[in-house]
Amino acid sequence: MQKELAHLTDLEAAAELAQLSKRLKELEIAYHTYDAPLVSDAEYDVLKRRNEELERLFPHLIRSDSPSLRVGGAVAEGFQKITHKVPMLSLGNIFEVAEIADFVDKIRRFLGLPDTQEIEFVAEPKIDGLSYSAMYHNGIFETGATRGDGTVGEDITANLKTIDQLPKRFSESDNLFAHPVPKWLDVRGEVYMSKSDFLALNSEAEKMGKKLFANPRNAAAGSLRQLDAAVTATRKLSLFSYAYGFLEGQKWSSHWDFLTSLKGWGFPVSPDIKLCKNAQELADYYTDMMAKRADLPYDIDGVVYKVNDYALQERLGFITRSPRWAIAHKFPAEQAITRLNAIRIQVGRTGALTPVADVEPINVGGVIVKHATLHNADEIARKDIREGDMVVIQRAGDVIPQIVDVLTDKRPENSRPFDFPTVCPICGATAVKEGDDAITYCTGGLGCPAQALESLKHFVSKSALDIDGLGAKNIELFFELGWIKTAADLFDLPQKYADELRMRDGWGPKSVENLTEALNKAKSGVALDRFIYALGIREVGEATARLFAKTFGVWDVFFEAVRSENAFDVLQHIEGVGPIMAQYVVDFFAESHNLTQIHRLVDIVQVMPYEKDEEKQTFLSGKTVVFTGTLTTMTRAEAKAKAVSAGAKVSGSVSAKTDFVVAGESAGSKLKQAQNLGVRVLSEKEFHQVLDEGFNYQYDEI
Ligand code: IVH
Repeated sequence: MQKELAHLTDLEAAAELAQLSKRLKELEIAYHTYDAPLVSDAEYDVLKRRNEELERLFPHLIRSDSPSLRVGGAVAEGFQKITHKVPMLSLGNIFEVAEIADFVDKIRRFLGLPDTQEIEFVAEPKIDGLSYSAMYHNGIFETGATRGDGTVGEDITANLKTIDQLPKRFSESDNLFAHPVPKWLDVRGEVYMSKSDFLALNSEAEKMGKKLFANPRNAAAGSLRQLDAAVTATRKLSLFSYAYGFLEGQKWSSHWDFLTSLKGWGFPVSPDIKLCKNAQELADYYTDMMAKRADLPYDIDGVVYKVNDYALQERLGFITRSPRWAIAHKFPAEQAITRLNAIRIQVGRTGALTPVADVEPINVGGVIVKHATLHNADEIARKDIREGDMVVIQRAGDVIPQIVDVLTDKRPENSRPFDFPTVCPICGATAVKEGDDAITYCTGGLGCPAQALESLKHFVSKSALDIDGLGAKNIELFFELGWIKTAADLFDLPQKYADELRMRDGWGPKSVENLTEALNKAKSGVALDRFIYALGIREVGEATARLFAKTFGVWDVFFEAVRSENAFDVLQHIEGVGPIMAQYVVDFFAESHNLTQIHRLVDIVQVMPYEKDEEKQTFLSGKTVVFTGTLTTMTRAEAKAKAVSAGAKVSGSVSAKTDFVVAGESAGSKLKQAQNLGVRVLSEKEFHQVLDEGFNYQYDEI
């Protein structure tokens, strides 16, 4: 328990300040440099605040490494560094509505304005993402950076270029308000991932058995701060612009006017900004945004109030590392404390043993939470989460609730660490953890009822065979009744069990007819990629299934390839397929039980050849491109990212399969090889033309 501030001696205060400085630094590095927060934002804020209060009461004890003097994280190794021409600072925080009036009063006093004089503010949502700086020279985007430690950031130019919403150039004519383009303008704002894009990314990651992101902010940070911008290009990132840093050649008189210019030039500016005249209007804005929060397509963690008049902003200046003219008003975190009643193990389709926390139902930010995810055995051990513990539950956006902390001081006396099972709780087969994998798997295969049932649900699901009238509930019921054991059994249901079905509650003749129809539809034709996905091969998600379908075109060719002696090599050579996945695929098709099922299925279901999605085609779709030599208008990473976003595969070596070689300056052996093999060579300029003109690009005109 923390001691009342006023009762602290100098010695105690100094000791606590030292401890806080160390702890906050640890938390900041984890958050900013590794995108892996150790505690919730709310817990961090509590510590930061305690530090500030101590410093206010004991100013003579402020440390030279005080957390108040730091802005954010340090620059991660691996990125080029960019020194900000104007530092990227932070904001002070308030947490209570009552503190708004203090903020406004302080400003008024600082400026020597009478109590009656109103000050205009711009109120904005505080986007929960990661801040960026984008430098424009005469309206042309030049470089982009993260905040880093506020003085030096990471060079993310190539990564920012992959974000469609970021204007790559802007001009006066684009602007309805015709503000002339400044010579230099460093636009600042926040890159974020929308809630829906985050859920889609995580669900794809889950299907592929990859690590999930904890929340949209981490997903945005992890996607933007990729050394290989081609990875960023595959992630859906959005942004809002809300400030400028360095500015030369133009001026604005107010923040509102500046934001209006930005909008006119095509920069995304939050539609929820508002001009407010006094503390009351700011408080109303806070309440409105709090109510709107859940319905916004992106996460916000509070609101920001900024003095509108730039002349006043200049007079107000900064206190250490944050402006006097702005403040962040944070929302209370959506957290609550409850009891962890039990840890239950679920067995998924691939045999993964996933621990789930059953908690005493509790209201967290307006939603009743009964279960929370515990991820895996390591996570339980790391946090030492035990049955019977009082735990802090957090709900961030639409994410599955998580346990962010354990109140160990409230732990029951007889509590024991959780023993993660070494056998499958459903079928009793051995459960194993392989190599570095954090996940424990049941080795029972389809002999394990849990895996068999989940595989059936997967087989009929939307992205697989999409069989109407066979939701998860019905599959569970038919499985329990023993009517279906494997996917092929589904197709016998209407004939074999027609009478029983018709008699069941909620199943009239019409439902049986509908089911028959849905099954017949599937029999008459299933797309190759859906069929491969439906088989439920470990690591093979929708994207990989599509990749296989695209590569092999028809089922017979795919099947022959995966059954061939050199299947592993063939698969591994497909761009986007690694050795682990290749091995899972080979193993799957080597298992006799699986083969029996597959033969039965392809006898029943007509698997259609893969059809290309015409709409998404660009000139480079499916083409293999190799870059060589020095590019002068973009970095290699940027060029790669652009080619990948246009649908191309980028390869490191030239072969007869290469469609294009893009040759920059002083290209050497790869260019020679391309010429020898008769592979089409594009200059850097031609590559730009290909990108700009997309599908309309005329091959012969170069
Ligand atoms: S203004 C001088 N406006 O919050 C400070 N920041 O806690 C300029 N943020 O570093 C920042 N939404 O990453 C500003 N509408 C908004 C914001 C915002 C989110 C972030 C930004 C900043 C952090 C401070």
